[in-house]
Amino acid sequence: MTRDDLFNINAGINVELASACAKECPNAMYLVVSNPVNSIVPVWAETLKKFNTYNPNRLFGVTTLDISRANTFASERFGMPVNVPVVGGHAGNTIVPLFSLAQPSIHLEGEELDKFTHRVAFGGDEVVQAKAGGGSATLSMAAAGAKFCESVLTALNGEQVEEIAYVVNTVAEKKYGTSFFATEITLGPDGIVDVKDTVANASDYERARVNAMVDDLRTQIKKGIDFVSSKL
Ligand SMILES: NC(=O)c1ccc[n+]([C@@H]2O[C@H](COP(=O)([O-])OP(=O)(O)OC[C@H]3O[C@@H](n4cnc5c(N)ncnc54)[C@H](O)[C@@H]3O)[C@@H](O)[C@H]2O)c1
Repeated sequence: MTRDDLFNINAGINVELASACAKECPNAMYLVVSNPVNSIVPVWAETLKKFNTYNPNRLFGVTTLDISRANTFASERFGMPVNVPVVGGHAGNTIVPLFSLAQPSIHLEGEELDKFTHRVAFGGDEVVQAKAGGGSATLSMAAAGAKFCESVLTALNGEQVEEIAYVVNTVAEKKYGTSFFATEITLGPDGIVDVKDTVANASDYERARVNAMVDDLRTQIKKGIDFVSSKL
């Protein structure tokens, strides 16, 4: 199956799901994992708009798996637990790990930095190849999805929670023309309460990677928007 086939099938299913949710649970938090996430989240936004139930603070593309990968690779390399923010999108070069902002701080440079950055961005392909036709990163996705769900549930319970997700992002829209962009967010009982400009604090290397991929991300977002215009 080509990426376009995957998009058309999953976009169609997600228009159906979003339409049903708009009617049955219009105030829910929607956590989208269907790939390609970069295009399917805009599919949800556009579909919900058609039903006048769209609330950008309650729609999330789940990119937690990218962060789990970055954390795992950095933790293995440095022999201690490391938290690495990962921003941008959720496909290949649009996934940009920000090792310069890792906590506790770590130092990667040169070829090693290139290698780690590439491995986070293309880790999904590595899993597909390792499973040799047996599927994709199903269990790690389940773990990542559960982690993000737990954050949303904690926020619904009244606590503010820091997370990273692919969400409507007015800063990125102004800077790059990308209406959606994965970044650090604060969650509260009604959804997103703050969207941070994580890239502003990143290294020159990381900001260059963001600048190099935004055309692709814009195209992928438009693909989702155009799909809904052609269907609804
Ligand atoms: N966001 C991420 O990090 C991430 C990671 C891995 C996989 N994924 C994506 O998650 C999705 C699911 O992956 P999977 O490995 O669980 O796939 P899968 O094929 O194992 O499961 C898909 C499920 O969807 C159901 N389904 C099919 N058509 C449907 C419809 N019209 N309405 C409702 N349900 C329908 C199928 O019955 C099946 O149970 C894929 O889009 C995959 O690309 C995302």
